[in-house]
Amino acid sequence: MCGITGYIGYRDAYPIIINGLQRLEYRGYDSAGIVLYDGNDIVLSKTKGKVSDLLEKAAKEISPKGNLGIGHTRWATHGVPNDVNSHPHTSQSGNLVIVHNGIIENYDTLKKELINRGYSFKSDTDTEVLINLIEEVQKENDVKLGKAVQIALNQVIGAYAIAVFDKNKPDEIVVARLGSPIAIGIGKDKKEFFVASDASPFIEYTKEAIYLEDEEMAIIRVGKKVKIRKIHDDSLVDASVQKLQMNLEQIEKGGYEHFMLKEIYEQPRAITDTYRGRLLREDGIIKMMGVEDNMKKFLNADRIIIVACGTSWHAGLVAEYIFEDLARIPVEVEYASEFRYRNPVITENDIIIAISQSGETADTLAAIKLAKSRGAFVFGVCNVVGSSIARETHAGAYTHAGPEIGVASTKAFTTQITVLSLIALRLARAKGTVSSSDYRYYLQELELIPEKVKMALTSDDHIKKISEIYKDATNFLYLGRGYNFPVALEGALKLKEISYIHAEGYPAAEMKHGPIALIDENMPIVVIATSKGHYEKVVSNIQEIKSRSGQIIAVVTEGDVQVKEIADHVIEIPETNEGFTPLLTTIPLQLLSYHIAVMRNCNVDQPRNLAKSVTVE
Ligand code: G6P
Repeated sequence: MCGITGYIGYRDAYPIIINGLQRLEYRGYDSAGIVLYDGNDIVLSKTKGKVSDLLEKAAKEISPKGNLGIGHTRWATHGVPNDVNSHPHTSQSGNLVIVHNGIIENYDTLKKELINRGYSFKSDTDTEVLINLIEEVQKENDVKLGKAVQIALNQVIGAYAIAVFDKNKPDEIVVARLGSPIAIGIGKDKKEFFVASDASPFIEYTKEAIYLEDEEMAIIRVGKKVKIRKIHDDSLVDASVQKLQMNLEQIEKGGYEHFMLKEIYEQPRAITDTYRGRLLREDGIIKMMGVEDNMKKFLNADRIIIVACGTSWHAGLVAEYIFEDLARIPVEVEYASEFRYRNPVITENDIIIAISQSGETADTLAAIKLAKSRGAFVFGVCNVVGSSIARETHAGAYTHAGPEIGVASTKAFTTQITVLSLIALRLARAKGTVSSSDYRYYLQELELIPEKVKMALTSDDHIKKISEIYKDATNFLYLGRGYNFPVALEGALKLKEISYIHAEGYPAAEMKHGPIALIDENMPIVVIATSKGHYEKVVSNIQEIKSRSGQIIAVVTEGDVQVKEIADHVIEIPETNEGFTPLLTTIPLQLLSYHIAVMRNCNVDQPRNLAKSVTVE
C-alpha cells in the first residue's frame, strides 16, 4: 500500500532512498518523504504528491548529507494526502522518526491515552500515534529503542511494516512487520544495510536479503548480524538469508514509454517462462511439483473455491470455466473480501486456490487464513516469490511473470491463466476427463500461445487508430460469452483503471436484461466474438446492438467474415482452442485501454487513487 525504504552504511543515503522510492511508487503515490541523519541532527522533507515533487522540495529544504535515512511513498489510509500527513513522522521530542505501511486500528484509543499524558499531534495519521507511543514507552521504561518498539507494538492492533530510528543513537534502524512486507538487504561484509517494502530498491547493491515474517522485528546495525525476534514472545529467530533472482533490467522500462506497455509486450516471454519445465509436450506430460505432491487431495476434492481480488479474480473466473470444462471439478469463485466475512461453508474436502500477483493482498491473505482454520487445503498462485501468500499457503505454483510494475495488471493475468490451465489439464489427465488425443492437442496449443500472443500484438497500430476515434467516449460496454465473459470484465476494468472512462463488462446475452437501454450512437461496445464457442449467438447480440446504432469494436478470429460485415471495427487474433482464447483476446483489450489512457494524458503506470498492492482491508 505504501512503500518504505531505508539505508544505513557508508554511502550517501539520499540517492539510494530517493531511487528506491521511485521504484516503490507502484505501491502508492499520494505523498512522499525522506528523513536523514546528517551527522548532527535529523533533516526531513515531505510533501503531498509524487517522488518527483519530493525531489524538488527536498532540493530547497535540506542538504542531502548523511549515511542513515528512511523514506516513504504513501497511499493514504488515515488522513487526507497533504504535507503534514506525509511520512516520515517524528515523535513529540523530535528524537524518533518513523515510516509506516499499514493501519493501526486502535489508534484512536492509543491517541486519547497519549493526549492525556500531554502529547499533542500535528497530523491525522495513525503513524504519528505509533511513534509517540514508542517514545512514551521508552521514557516510562527507560529501555533502548528496539525494546520500546517491541513493547509498543504489543499494544497495537492492526497491520504494519515500520522502520524507525533515533537521532540520539544513529547507529541502528529498527524494523518490524505484521501483515505488510519488509525486506532487509545485506551489504558486503555487513558494512551497509538496506530496508525496503520489496527488494527492488537495493537490487543493484546486493543480492542477499532477509524477508521478515509476520510478528517479527529486527535491529539493524552496521557490522553486526541482523538480530530478529518475535514481537510477542521475544524469542530469537534464525534469519534465513535469501538469494535474490531479480535483476535491474527487469525493473526498468527498457525503452518503452510506460511499464504497462513493456509488460504487455513481455507476455510472450512471460507465458513461456510460466510453462517452461512444466509443460513437457514431447513427453506428453505436465509436471508441477505443487500439484504432484498433493495429487490425492486434488483428486478427492469435492470442489475448488477460488479466492482473489481485482484482475486476479478475473483470472479465477476464467479458471472456473477451464476446471469445470476439462477436469470436471465444481468451482466457485469468490471475492476474497466477501468470502472472509460471510461465514462460508468450507470443509476439509474443499481445495482453496488463492490467486494473487503480489502475494500480499490483505483480503486474500485473510481468506486463506480463514480457509486454513476450517481445515481446507490451500494452494497459492502468486507471482512474487517469497510473498506472504506464497508462504501462508500449503502448496502452490509461481507464475514466473517477472516483476510487474504498472499498476494495471497485464502479464500477471495471462500468466495466472496459463498456470491455472496447466493445473486443470494435469488434473483432467489424472481423472481421465480428457482423451489422450485431446490432451496432446491441448499441450501443443498451449505451447503455441506465446507465438500467437506475438501475432496479436501486431495489431497495435490498428488498435491505436481505433483508440483515437473513441478516446473521448464517456462510457464503454464490454461483452463476451463463455470463456470470454471474464475477459470482458477484465477489459472494462483496464479501461476504468487507467483512463477513468466508465466501463462495464457483461455477459453478452445478459445485455438485453438492462444494458441494452444504454445503447445509442455514442456508446462504443467492445464485443469478443471469436469463432469457437458461441459465435452465432454473439453475432446475434452484435446485430441487436447495431440495430440500436451502437458502435461495435469486435475482437474476432482471423479470417472472420460475418462479424466483419456488421461491426464498425474488427481486431483479429489467431485461432486457438476455445479454452485458451482468453490468453489472446485479452491482448487487444489491454492495448486499447493503454492507448486511450495515453491519448487522454492519464498517468498510465500510476493511475489516481489506485495502488499495485493492497495490503489494507
Ligand atoms: C490491486 C491492483 C490490481 C490487482 C488487485 C489484486 O487492486 O491495482 O491490479 O489485480 O490489487 O492484487 P493481487 O496482487 O492480489 O493480484
